[in-house]
Amino acid sequence: MSQTAKIILDGKEYELPVIVGTENEKAVDISQLRSQSGYITYDDGYGNTGSCKSDITFIDGEKGILRYRGVDIAEIAEKSSFLEAAYLIIWGHLPNKAERQEFDDLIQQHEMLHENMKHQFQGFPPQAAPMAVLSAMINSMSCFHSHLYDLDEPHKFLEATAKLLAKVRTIAAFSYKHSIGEPISYPAPGLSYTENFLHMMFDAPNHPYTLDPEVVRAMDLMFLLHADHEQNCSTSTVRMVGSSQANLFTSVAAGVSGLWGRLHGGANQAVLEMLEGIHKRGDSIETVIAKVKDKDSKFRLMGFGHRVYKNFDPRAKIIKKACDDVLKKLGRKDPLLDIAKELEQAALADDYFVERKLYPNVDFYSGIVMRAIGIPLNMFTVMFAIGRMPGWIANWKEVHDSPSQRIYRPRQVYVGPVQRSYEDARKQD
Ligand code: ACO
Repeated sequence: MSQTAKIILDGKEYELPVIVGTENEKAVDISQLRSQSGYITYDDGYGNTGSCKSDITFIDGEKGILRYRGVDIAEIAEKSSFLEAAYLIIWGHLPNKAERQEFDDLIQQHEMLHENMKHQFQGFPPQAAPMAVLSAMINSMSCFHSHLYDLDEPHKFLEATAKLLAKVRTIAAFSYKHSIGEPISYPAPGLSYTENFLHMMFDAPNHPYTLDPEVVRAMDLMFLLHADHEQNCSTSTVRMVGSSQANLFTSVAAGVSGLWGRLHGGANQAVLEMLEGIHKRGDSIETVIAKVKDKDSKFRLMGFGHRVYKNFDPRAKIIKKACDDVLKKLGRKDPLLDIAKELEQAALADDYFVERKLYPNVDFYSGIVMRAIGIPLNMFTVMFAIGRMPGWIANWKEVHDSPSQRIYRPRQVYVGPVQRSYEDARKQD
């Protein structure tokens, strides 16, 4: 028998359906509550609101579980490349040989930018924030590929997906080259997705870039671990914009903007800045922890805590190992890694963090990996955006394909002035 919930409002009882997910997650369906009772629910920041049903990614924040399409993240990280994981996230299954070949070929076919799009980089100042450039350039794809607004036909969706995945990497690398005043490096044939990205980022006429398999693997892993994370800020943004039937490119460009902030994708940069600051000032670990606990300081331990994970972020465990491996391979010692490890140990043993269930998240170590690879600090969040692309595409498609999809339109509780005259609203001189 299906379960229901009861709510009593103004003395009247309302019965509400309970929805149960495949992993036994339960939700009270309040979609008819307002029409029946006049009440809405209030959930500032959506911390307890299920905004959709989705079959893409499952997270159990209490147990520290993350699965793409039912497969554990650790197993995908061990056995797949980023592109294969992207395919799994977007189409729901791992590709067979023919599908993989077709996908790889399409990625290669679409990796160049239209020449006019390339000229657009000249219009940005060299010091432009890379996330602003990325969002603008992805939105610009709407101008160059308007035949891909309507993606009802599977081959068109495949083309749009290949274009986005291929070009986001080219845009990122070109914008970096533009910012440092170097000539762009075009994609080279025969290289894998991530090899080509590193090639475009770092190869220059006077210093050819040699690909190191260990570095390629670490970068690929970085992309893979960020590939989807259910209804986070940027993905919800993509779904929201897509729900108005806006095209895929512009919906994803909005996602890039959502990702930019320090509390979301910008955290990886914030972690490194924090670690660099601690290192430069020579702060002791005790001083840092005391500052975090002092509410007046407004200082947070960046890379710690998560809205959903109240246990170890499973991605943090994987990236921590990759971090050790890549530094070892490159024969580097990074004092920031030592600080990060000491901070982690101190925080995990401290009541403040234990009581609030604050654990390291994926960003705590990803910055150190990227630094070792040579990714400049201001490009960190762009790396996250490249990685998150499959998740945004899959979520946009889920909205697009849903037969019951309505435009996203939350309600609010109005707390502003009650009706007043036009003259009363004018500020007095
Ligand atoms: N350092 C110190 N205290 C923290 C931290 C932190 N990193 N995170 C949360 N807290 C404390 C808060 O001060 C609050 O304490 P209080 O109950 O005494 O007031 C309590 O823990 C709950 O914090 P909220 O802000 O309510 O938690 P919320 O779920 O809203 O925030 C967030 C989650 C934004 C990730 C937060 O933990 C944070 O700011 N972390 C640092 C930024 C970061 O690493 N972001 C990356 C997230 S992962 C990603 O986007 C890939």
